[in-house]
Amino acid sequence: MSATLLAPSVEGRTGPAGWDHADASPTADHALIDIRDLWRVYHLGSVTVEALRGVSLQVHQGEFVAIVGPSGSGKSTLMNIIGCLDRPSAGSYVLAGTSVEGLSDDELARLRSREIGFVFQSYNLLARTSATDNVATPLLYQGVGRRERIERSRAALTELGLGERLDHLPSELSGGQQQRVAIARALVTNPSIILADEPTGNLDTASGVEVMARFHALHRQGRTIVLITHDHEVAAQAPRQVHVRDGQLV
Ligand SMILES: Nc1ncnc2c1ncn2[C@@H]1O[C@H](COP(=O)(O)OP(=O)(O)OP(=O)(O)O)[C@@H](O)[C@H]1O
Ligand SMILES: [Mg+2]
Repeated sequence: MSATLLAPSVEGRTGPAGWDHADASPTADHALIDIRDLWRVYHLGSVTVEALRGVSLQVHQGEFVAIVGPSGSGKSTLMNIIGCLDRPSAGSYVLAGTSVEGLSDDELARLRSREIGFVFQSYNLLARTSATDNVATPLLYQGVGRRERIERSRAALTELGLGERLDHLPSELSGGQQQRVAIARALVTNPSIILADEPTGNLDTASGVEVMARFHALHRQGRTIVLITHDHEVAAQAPRQVHVRDGQLV
């Protein structure tokens, strides 16, 4: 992890005192995700929606957290902010020692690409592209050469149990296998956090169990995982649960 990637915003790295800026890795007592009194307000004409109302949340390196709540409670809004796809209306968010406040759109995108691996309910794979090339795509955006892209992609797919499916198209894979391709794609850049929004939402029970088992294995390897779900049974499998209701943590 190179600080030079964010060179123009070094003064924006307002991590707490004691943060090791040189290697951008959190010290034991500093959270990887540090959200304080965060609000997200949508304005639609004359209507104002307070989707998040004063949320504070700390997630440490190596944690596996489920954010659970009913439809409309603000889960995706929170995920979009954690994943640097959206910005808070008020409050602070410090991700891996970098405050998102004051970052330009390009800086926010670089922070996202470096720190976050996304997994979505609908897999979001490229349809006419092999499993290997799907997983390699985020590395292309990071400027990694073709040979290394393919090597790292195959290694990630093999880790997810798909070593026999490297050249398959998404249409030639089951739903659970497609979601494992998506998890491999989230992992291949070696991000700080895997952020998953309803990752088992489209899967039958057995495939859902298989995908959750993969998250548990990643957690055992020391990965940090934030999983968003409305399903209490799925959430109950995570070591820590955070409940969202009407835009607040309860
Ligand atoms: N772009 C937007 N503009 C206006 N209001 C929005 C927007 N996105 C979400 N909202 C509102 O913010 C609230 C929280 O929505 P959000 O999508 O975060 O809920 P959720 O918990 O992810 O729900 P679900 O489980 O159905 O996905 C809802 O009342 C929603 O209508
Ligand atoms: Mg949602």
